[in-house]
Parts: sequence; structure tokens; C-alpha cells
Amino acid sequence: MSLDIVILAAGQGTRMRSALPKVLHPLAGKSMLGHVLDTARQLQPQDIHVVIGHGAEQVRERLAADDLSFVLQAEQLGTGHAVAQALPGLSAERVLILYGDVPLIEAATLERLLAKVGPQQLALLTVELPDPTGYGRILRDANGVVTAIVEHKDATPAQRAIREGNTGILAVPGKRLAEWLARLSNDNVQGEYYLTDVIAMAVADGLVVATEQAHDAMEVQGANDRIQLAELERHYQQRAARRLMAAGVTLRDPARFDVRGEVTVGRDVLIDVNVILEGRVVIEDNVEIGPNCVIRNSTLRRGAVVKANSHLDGAELGEGADCGPFARLRPGTVLGAKAHVGNFVEVKNARLGEGSKAGHLTYLGDAEIGANCNIGAGTITCNYDGANKHRTVLGDEVFIGSNNSLVAPLTIGAGSTTGAGSTVTQDVPAQSLAIGRAKQRNIDGWQRPLKSKK
Ligand code: UD1
Ligand code: CA
Repeated sequence: MSLDIVILAAGQGTRMRSALPKVLHPLAGKSMLGHVLDTARQLQPQDIHVVIGHGAEQVRERLAADDLSFVLQAEQLGTGHAVAQALPGLSAERVLILYGDVPLIEAATLERLLAKVGPQQLALLTVELPDPTGYGRILRDANGVVTAIVEHKDATPAQRAIREGNTGILAVPGKRLAEWLARLSNDNVQGEYYLTDVIAMAVADGLVVATEQAHDAMEVQGANDRIQLAELERHYQQRAARRLMAAGVTLRDPARFDVRGEVTVGRDVLIDVNVILEGRVVIEDNVEIGPNCVIRNSTLRRGAVVKANSHLDGAELGEGADCGPFARLRPGTVLGAKAHVGNFVEVKNARLGEGSKAGHLTYLGDAEIGANCNIGAGTITCNYDGANKHRTVLGDEVFIGSNNSLVAPLTIGAGSTTGAGSTVTQDVPAQSLAIGRAKQRNIDGWQRPLKSKK
């Protein structure tokens, strides 16, 4: 049976106290609405309709994609009114309603819900709550058959005692929706067109209302303020941590670990506290990551080690390579197998061949470094002339003395050596020594200047 999905995302989100539309607030590095869209896509609907209103332009700009239709709800007159705005674009046999501010809903739960909707049946996702204040309540008759939903504000004290709440998520037969929505009235305490009134109409028309529950109540939790958003974030991170541990990762403390993207892990990976993984991160077997590291869009090959306080972005560490503590690897960094980058070393758009080392206080930018090179402490590739970037190319087995300035464009042939303190401006042939520094002279009996007396 075909499926259309409508995502409600027009509300203001006043309690966020933010210039950013509520549904664009990030959870685990991605907007709440982005999470809902990803889940919606997993259900392979024929269309996804996003109802936008507050901050409509920003939402559209941020999330525009070929498979999305945006529908403007200029005035927020209620959830029923919101769905009605999407009606002209709906044609599928089933319509699923989701919310842009309920980000943790899972595809598996929605699949179970969708299994229950049919031409003569609605499917409603409900939740048992210790305190259902604010939620619509599910009304059932003596036989437990759903008859209606009553909003909290419209409910009698007896109805308010019902603990089964409406999550808002429901699936309906597409054919009937238009006629039900057309019959909604706003004659209620809030003066809104309630989507929930559709339930009683369906029952009156002889349809059955089936219910389904999420296994995890956080799946159906919305974020109305930053406190709820933080709770959802922690829940998401706990889930992510458990998933990685189940896959063979030791997390020194699952509560001090954050994933903001897609992570692939091997086995026997060790991750110390306060590590943040962002974007696409690939971690192969036996990798170790020390405390306080940020690693984004990077690949760590088998046995690589990232030591404490390192920051990686767009980097690749070869098998058994290591970096840090306090390494900064920027986009385009590729460390060959067993290469080593030590403390206070910044690398950008540079390759270090197998076994090469840059141990201390160095900047390597726009460089191609062969295998088994040693880059002395304090070496700087002078890659930028104020207008253009230039490359530094080192053959295999090059030894760069400490405190060198390698003025690019520059090529140093295999097996060559540069003296400590050299400013190297000319290419160096293979198997030679380059010394580019002032010759030392000593002056006998040199008197230091004396401080003048006042
Ligand atoms: C709604 C349900 C309630 C349920 C609760 C769960 C209705 C009438 N009530 O109540 O039964 O228990 O959710 O959280 O549906 N929105 C629009 N346009 C509008 C109005 C709302 O896009 O005109 C969006 C909001 O941005 C929000 C969602 O719909 O994401 C829910 O709206 P809200 O006003 O918060 O509904 P509740 O009163 O919480
Ligand atoms: Ca709400």
C-alpha cells in the first residue's frame, strides 16, 4: 500500500527562546527535523510533505531536497489545519503524520504502526505516562475500543485521570482524510482545528482505531524547550554508546562520549573519556583514542592510535600510525602506516609516507613526504606567499634538522639531510646535505652592556 508522510513543523517553539526555528535546533549535530526526515525516508514513502510556518524560509533553505515538498501554513490554526494544508499533494492509500520536534521516533516503531492501518482502520501511536498533563487522552469504551481523543484542556477531571496519552503520531487511510478534515471545527477551549477530532469522526463512520505503543517512551517525546532537548540528546547519546559497545568498542565512560554523525567501528576499539566523533568516522579494529579528542570526517585504520587532546578533521591514519597528544590534523592529512605525528604538530593537505615522523612543534602544509623521513622539531613548511600556496616534496629517508623553514615550492631528494636551523629555499638533490644558516663566529672577551645607574 502506498504511503504519504506529512511532517508538522510550523509551530513557533516559543519556549526555545531562540531566533532559530525550533525544528532546526540540533540534536547530535543534526537538526531535529533532519532526524525525522531520515526516519521518514527509511519508510520509503511516495512523498514527504513538510508543513512549515514559523521560520519557513530558513527551514526550507536548510533542508531542501528533491524528495521533499514544503507546504506553507501561514497561520497556525491547529494540527488539523496544518495537515489540511498538505491535502492537495496527498494521493497515497495511507497517510502518516509525524512531528518535526519529535526527533527520536524510530522507523521500526512506525513500521509496526503502519502494519495496522487499512481502508477501514486508523492506527494511533499512544503512550502510557505517569503524568500525562498536556497530552490528549485516549478515550475507550467499556470494551476497551477507542472512541475519541480529548485534549487535556478540554478534558473533564475524570478524563484527565486517564494515563494513556496521544503521541500525535497516527496513520490514516488517505481516501477519508479530506472529508474528515473538512468537517473539523475550532469550537474548543484553544479555538484550534484539532487533528485529534478525526478519531471520533472515523469511529462514527464505522472505522476501527487500532493502537500501537513505542517500546521506548523517549521515542515519542517532543522537545519544547532546551531542557527537553538536552534530555533527548542524552538519551540519543546513551543509545549510540550502547550500539558501539555492542559492536566491540570499549568506552571508558559511556556517559562521557558523543557521536554527532555516522560512525563505523571495528572490534577491540578503545575510546577514553570526552571523545566527540562528528560527521563520517571510520574506526577499524584495535584503534585506541585517548581522552578529550575531537574526530570528524576521518578514517583510523587498524591499530592506529590517537593520543589525548588531539583534533582531527578530514584526516586518515594508516595502520599503526599515531598522533598526539595535542596533534591537529586538518583536511587532506594522510599518515601512512606506522607514521607518527607528535605533540603540537599541525598538518594540512599533506601526506606522510610509511614510518615517517614529525615529533614536535611543527607545521606541515601542502606537503608530500616520502617514507621513513624524520622531520625535526620546530620545522615549518612556508607554503603560503601571501597569494598562493606552494608544495613541499620530500623523497624517502629525508632527515630535516630541527627548526627548519622549508620555503615552498621546494623539493628535497631522497636520503638528503638539512642542518638544524636551516632556511631551505633551493631544491636539494638526493643524498646530500643542505645547510642554510649564517655561519657562527665567536668574539673573544665580549662585554655585555651594563645597566645605566640612575
Ligand atoms: C498535540 C495533540 C495532543 C498530543 C500532543 C503530543 C492535537 C490537537 N493535540 O497537542 O493530543 O497529546 O500533541 O505532544 O493535535 N503544529 C503545526 N501547525 C499548527 C499547530 C501545530 O505545524 O497549526 C505543529 C507544532 O509545531 C508541533 C505539533 O504540530 O510540532 C504539535 O502541536 P502542538 O500545538 O504542540 O500540539 P499539542 O497541544 O502539544
Ligand atoms: Ca506539543
